[in-house]
Amino acid sequence: NRVLVLNGPNLGRLGSREPEVYGALTLSDLRDQLEAASGGLALEVRQTDSESELVSWLHEAVDSASHVILNPAAFTHYSYALRDAVALVTDAGLLLVEVHISNPHAREEFRHTSVISGVATGVIAGFGFDSYLLALELVRRRSG
Ligand code: DQA
Repeated sequence: NRVLVLNGPNLGRLGSREPEVYGALTLSDLRDQLEAASGGLALEVRQTDSESELVSWLHEAVDSASHVILNPAAFTHYSYALRDAVALVTDAGLLLVEVHISNPHAREEFRHTSVISGVATGVIAGFGFDSYLLALELVRRRSG
């Protein structure tokens, strides 16, 4: 299976956005790290600020039978549209790992709720870019 690594709003600003929370590395550094760790898995890293584009990428994951590593960013906390699209992916028997760079539970109250987690396969948060690398390792182990 192909693996789609999907990133939500403001993650295109990694490196300059709140480096004390998200680190100094950029989305393109993340892409390099994931590609270096892909070990032959076909991997695509994307980012959008648009909820509608993210929903359509999740539909694409269903149609192309791709596993998904998703950082929904702020949509995590309130987007039922994204939640329903995530449910389509996991209902199709595909893996969807919700990842976060920071640990949202150690931050503001509004970040303590994820409307995504209940329909994700699982969640990895708080390990910087390693959250994505661990998710990739899980997809590798689980997808055979
Ligand atoms: C985030 C955490 C979210 O609360 C926040 O809105 C983000 C990034 C993370 O990766 O730590 O944009 O998903």
